[in-house]
Amino acid sequence: MMELRIQLIPTGEIILPPGKNGEFYCQSCTKAVGSDGIRAMMESALTARDRVGVQDFVLLENHTSEVAFIENLRKRFKENLIYTYIGSVLVSVNPYKELEIYSKQHMERYRGVNFYEVSPHIYAVADNAYRSMRTERRDQCILISGESGAGKTEASKKVLQYYAITCPASEHVQTIKDRLLQSNPVLEAFGNAKTLRNDNSSRFGKYMDIQFDFKGAPVGGHIINYLLEKSRVVHQSHGERNFHIFYQLIEGGEDDLLRRLGLEKNAQQYQFLVKGNCPKVSSINDRNDWKIVRKALSIIGFTDDEVEELLNIIASVLHLGNVQYGGEDSGSAYITTETQIKYLARLLGVDGTILKEALTHKKIIAKGEELMSPLNQEQAASARDALSKAIYGRTFTWLVNKINDSLAYKDDSFNSKNASVIGLLDIYGFEVFQNNSFEQFCINYCNEKLQQLFIELTLKSEQEEYEAEGITWEPVQYFNNKIICDLVEEKFKGIISILDEECLRPGDASDITFLEKLEDTVGGHAHFLTHKLADGKTRKVMGREEFRLIHYAGEVNYNVNGQLLNRYLLFRNLKEVMCMSENKILTQCFDREELTDKKRPETAATQFKNSLAKLMEILMSKEPSYVRCIKPNDAKQAGRFDEVLIRHQVKYLGLMENLRVRRAGFAYRRRYETFLQRYKSLCPNTWPNWDGRLVDGVSTLVKHLGYKPEEYKLGRTKIFIRFPKTLFATEDALEVRKHSLATKLQSSWKGFSQKTKYRKMRQSAIKIQAWWRGILARREAKRRREAANTIRRFIKGFIYRHQPRCPENEYFLDYVRYSFLMKLHRSLPKTVLDKSWPTPPPALIEASEQLRKLCMQNMVWKYCKNINPEWKHQLEQKMVASEIFKDKKDNYPQSVPKLFVGTRLNGEDINPKVQQALGNEKMKYAVPVTKYDRKGYKARNRQLLLMANSAIIVEEAKLKQRIDYSSLKGISVSSLSDGMFVLHVACEDNKQKGDVVLQSEHVIEALTKVAICADKMNSININQGSIKFSVAQGKEGIIDFTSGSELLIAKAKNGHLSVTAPRLNSR
Ligand SMILES: Nc1ncnc2c1ncn2[C@@H]1O[C@H](COP(=O)(O)OP(=O)(O)OP(=O)(O)O)[C@@H](O)[C@H]1O
Ligand SMILES: [Mg+2]
Repeated sequence: MMELRIQLIPTGEIILPPGKNGEFYCQSCTKAVGSDGIRAMMESALTARDRVGVQDFVLLENHTSEVAFIENLRKRFKENLIYTYIGSVLVSVNPYKELEIYSKQHMERYRGVNFYEVSPHIYAVADNAYRSMRTERRDQCILISGESGAGKTEASKKVLQYYAITCPASEHVQTIKDRLLQSNPVLEAFGNAKTLRNDNSSRFGKYMDIQFDFKGAPVGGHIINYLLEKSRVVHQSHGERNFHIFYQLIEGGEDDLLRRLGLEKNAQQYQFLVKGNCPKVSSINDRNDWKIVRKALSIIGFTDDEVEELLNIIASVLHLGNVQYGGEDSGSAYITTETQIKYLARLLGVDGTILKEALTHKKIIAKGEELMSPLNQEQAASARDALSKAIYGRTFTWLVNKINDSLAYKDDSFNSKNASVIGLLDIYGFEVFQNNSFEQFCINYCNEKLQQLFIELTLKSEQEEYEAEGITWEPVQYFNNKIICDLVEEKFKGIISILDEECLRPGDASDITFLEKLEDTVGGHAHFLTHKLADGKTRKVMGREEFRLIHYAGEVNYNVNGQLLNRYLLFRNLKEVMCMSENKILTQCFDREELTDKKRPETAATQFKNSLAKLMEILMSKEPSYVRCIKPNDAKQAGRFDEVLIRHQVKYLGLMENLRVRRAGFAYRRRYETFLQRYKSLCPNTWPNWDGRLVDGVSTLVKHLGYKPEEYKLGRTKIFIRFPKTLFATEDALEVRKHSLATKLQSSWKGFSQKTKYRKMRQSAIKIQAWWRGILARREAKRRREAANTIRRFIKGFIYRHQPRCPENEYFLDYVRYSFLMKLHRSLPKTVLDKSWPTPPPALIEASEQLRKLCMQNMVWKYCKNINPEWKHQLEQKMVASEIFKDKKDNYPQSVPKLFVGTRLNGEDINPKVQQALGNEKMKYAVPVTKYDRKGYKARNRQLLLMANSAIIVEEAKLKQRIDYSSLKGISVSSLSDGMFVLHVACEDNKQKGDVVLQSEHVIEALTKVAICADKMNSININQGSIKFSVAQGKEGIIDFTSGSELLIAKAKNGHLSVTAPRLNSR
């Protein structure tokens, strides 16, 4: 079973350590929750947060009581609740110990969540600025202020880490994120030092821009540095150290490296590191930090060569510190430490002799001539120190530029103008030392300016705005430190102007004359004091070379000693030597143009003043968020709450006034047009556009949103919303609305794009159609034209058709021929009997005839080729029949389609006796016939058998009569449709019974067979009217034929046989 552990963390929430698979467990639920779950869980834990005090001072019961204010801070501090809001300003108390409130889960919890929903945290400020930047597309800046050691740098690092972890990333962005993060240890190594106030005190001001692309991913950065405290390079107060990098190099540097640099692993060996007498500090691990810095340098993009050159410079500063002077009798200084010069010459890449001379001489230009004037020991030492400071200071600026190069976004498509920016200001805090030099003056002046900005933006302008907008308002009194700023920076009358004037003034200007001039000019100022001007009590604590400024944060005595020396910081010949350096970094730091530039350079104070003015401009152009850091004690101790110290800070930071204004005022304000523009989609009346007055639009909108009257006020040009909650609720509503709008937009866009696509397709289709129709129409027109031409030619050809061939008719004639041939081709007769043939045009009559013959021959030939023997025999018989009867006998046509058969009587039809009598004689044909007696013309049924040589008439079993073919004289038939026929037999022989009168239904077939068997084709007579035949004994019989309606055969009265043959339709 998994162990369930609950951990109470300083912000008051309950976090359960992740399970094996990274899931989180919740106290009230038994099952694991995912990373989303932790959020919900954390939210529920919100009730547990801030059990102590109030999380927003605005909620304090007695908001005007400083005691209550500090009590609230104390209560929370005791519970490790270091963050508290005053409205949107974050007050942070340095815990001086590691709190577990900066984990990834904490970051997740603050991501995209409204301010008031979660407990106060630096992440909430960071997230709020990020979201404002994204939603309002306005550049933001986070101003972190507080005195030295209050936790500004830590806070700025937390903000940077928050962005690095929570912002969307890509590969490139990851590199930038890494570089942004890694710029910190590098800059801290070179620009931070242990002071009495802070073990990691920023000794330079830093303003960092983080650039975000439109997706909200950090894509670049830029750092501006402000006045490094260079005096620290050569001198540190007791208990303080030089910049970290020196110690890191000596402690952490590999032996090889140190050998190359000529350094020993002992800080005590170096004059520049021993002044404060504390080279080692328990809270600082130089060796470890060295590794971090080395790694950071390579992540930022320093090559090994560049690192080597950089370290050469750092080492050379240490060697410079060890350059010692001796004094000649004449007073001129000489160098006693030759080895240092050797190292210096090598490390700086300069000529040793020239360097040596430059360190002991000063170049003077008198009447156009250059003279080398020797320096005394003191002057030489200060020249050496000046050179050390210059080298270090310029290298530091180079370092910042180099980091900027590596942070610059190099994508061409990225327009830095379109980038959104969040600025992060972490500047040295207000500080007071026993001995405060020119640099402290600058640092504190800078803090005055920041306080001024805070006042301007939160107290002054806010109140002014309420009044300008006509909101009922009771002014809150506050101390405006503008008076101090003016004292320092005012033109002609300010301290900096006076300093400049003294510096530039010819003659014997000195620190003392400067002090006197100050007394003359600003001596009456309420915030200025000198020993001379002070009362007795104050005089005791003030030196004669000091002036006192009563800063917003406290009184500081500044020593004028050396302030004027600023103008002679670096002798010209030393600059010249440095310009000759072979070190690549130094060549960039010391520009030869500087030597030839005749213009007097601005003094350091003016430079600083101008750079601050620029900084203020930058900050004013952005929307600020404030983090006010408070230092709980001077001992850097965890859990110690020094009330006096804190009250002092609460006072000078103006937090009480801030609270009062915030309590009475409004958390949020926007110009009507901006407000309406942003939220108009939340109300149907204002969406998509509002036509009337802006104030009415906003009023309609907020009423629709259900704002209560106490929640907002409408000014002249702006709406004021009292509680952040109200605004956040509106923001949430907008978030929801955006989704539905996005869906709508998407669908409209899809509709639009589809419509456009459709229209385009339609246009294309229409175009194609038009083209195609055009093509078709042109084709049709061409066809018609051709058809018309053809018709015209045809008509012309027709007109000229009888003319001999000529151009007018050749087409027609050819066509006629062609069409005849084609027609012929299609309608050629299919059988020999088919006599159809298309009528040829006159020109083709002959050819047509030839073709027809050919065709017929061909068909006949084909027909004959395919004929079989039976059919041939049949046809031969039909031919015979045709020759005999065609057009002669009426019933011939009816016989044509009827096929002739081999015999009409088969074996069983013929009496066996007859067959027996016939013996082997081959019978060729047999047919039943009717025989008419010669006398009475009685009809008798007989069979006519055709043998090889004779025809036999059979009556039942009797062979009645045999007629040899040789004795067959002829055969007679009528021309009518009857079946009568007479076989004429020669009667030389009396045995012959005379001619035989027979009748057959198959008269044509029977007679054809007889004609063929007896070879009597020519002996068949076809008679009209009557047939005579001979009866035995020379007598004659006559058969008369007439046509009638039906067949009638009878003996007529005249003794003739009368035959009425039916009339056939075909005749
Ligand atoms: N949120 C914090 N959690 C833990 N320790 C902190 C926190 N803030 C500050 N500290 C401690 O206080 C020390 C001083 O903080 P920091 O360097 O940020 O002060 P600063 O305001 O930047 O001072 P300076 O003006 O001198 O640069 C840090 O080194 C650290 O030990
Ligand atoms: Mg700092």
